[in-house]
Amino acid sequence: MAKATTNKTNNDIYIPSVMKAAQQSDFGEVRDVLTLGENVSVPRQLSSKQILVRAYAAAINPVDWKVLNGRLSLVTRYSFPHTPGTDVAGVVVDIGSGVKRLRIGDKVYGDLTIHGGSYAEYVRGDESVFTLKPNNLTMEEAAAIPLACNTSYQALFKKASPPIGPRSKILICGGSTATGLYAIQLAKAVGAYVTATCSQRNFSLMEKLGYTIIQTNIEINNDQNQLHIIDYNEKDFGEELKDKYI
Ligand SMILES: NC(=O)c1ccc[n+]([C@@H]2O[C@H](COP(=O)([O-])OP(=O)(O)OC[C@H]3O[C@@H](n4cnc5c(N)ncnc54)[C@H](OP(=O)(O)O)[C@@H]3O)[C@@H](O)[C@H]2O)c1
Repeated sequence: MAKATTNKTNNDIYIPSVMKAAQQSDFGEVRDVLTLGENVSVPRQLSSKQILVRAYAAAINPVDWKVLNGRLSLVTRYSFPHTPGTDVAGVVVDIGSGVKRLRIGDKVYGDLTIHGGSYAEYVRGDESVFTLKPNNLTMEEAAAIPLACNTSYQALFKKASPPIGPRSKILICGGSTATGLYAIQLAKAVGAYVTATCSQRNFSLMEKLGYTIIQTNIEINNDQNQLHIIDYNEKDFGEELKDKYI
C-alpha cells in the first residue's frame, strides 16, 4: 500500500510522494529486467490535459512483454528505469488545469499507449486516453478491455475503408482472439453481418458472447442475433463464403 503522507489536493484527497511500481531497468528477459520498486516517485506534475489515477487494476497485454524484451525498441524511446504497463482502471485523484471531461473521484479506465506506466499505484496519462468506467464492470474487467478493444475499434472504424457499418459484410480471421472477440461485438453493434474463424476448442468461448452460433453457410440469413463461425481447421473459409456475402 502507498503511504498517504503528503500532497493534499483541492478535494482533500491525500496523494503520497512515493509508491510501489514495477521498474524496468533495461530491455531483456522479464526475470532479469523487471523489479518491484518500493519508493518510486508518484508522477505529481500534470500538464494541463493530464490526469492522475489511483490504479485499482492493471492488465497484462502481449505488448507489455514486447516492450520489456526490446522488440519495440525501434519505435519506443524509454529512459530507464521505466514503468511498463498499458491498460489500467482506477479512480481520478488529480487533474490538470485544462481537463474538462473528467473529475476527481471519477472511476475511469484507459490505455496508456506505448508510453506505459500502468504497473504502478498511481498512473499519469492524458485525459484523452481515459473514459468513465461503466458501473456494470469491475475494475479488473475494465482494465482488461482498453488496448485490445481499441485495436479492434481502430481496425473497423478508422482503418477499414469504407468503415464498417450497417449491413457491411465482414470476415474476422481469429474470432476467438482477444481482438477478434471485441471486433465481433463492435461490428455486430453497428449492424454488420459477421463471419468469424475459430477452432473447435474455442467454440464454447464464442457461445459466451450470447449469439446463436451457426456453422454451416446454408444457415446464413443475416440475422443479427446469429454469428457464423468457420472452424478453419476443418473448412476452407474462402470456399465457405464464396457467393454468400456478395
Ligand atoms: N491483444 C491486443 O491488445 C493487441 C493489440 C494490437 C495488436 N494485436 C495483434 O492482434 C493479433 C491477435 O492478438 P490477440 O492478442 O487478439 O490474440 P490472442 O488473444 O493471443 O489469440 C489467441 C488465439 O489465436 C488463435 N490462433 C490462431 N493461430 C494461432 C497460432 N499459430 N498460435 C497461437 N494461436 C493461434 C487461437 O484461437 P483459435 O484456435 O480459435 O484460432 C488462440 O486461442 C496479433 O497479431 C497481435 O499482435 C493485439
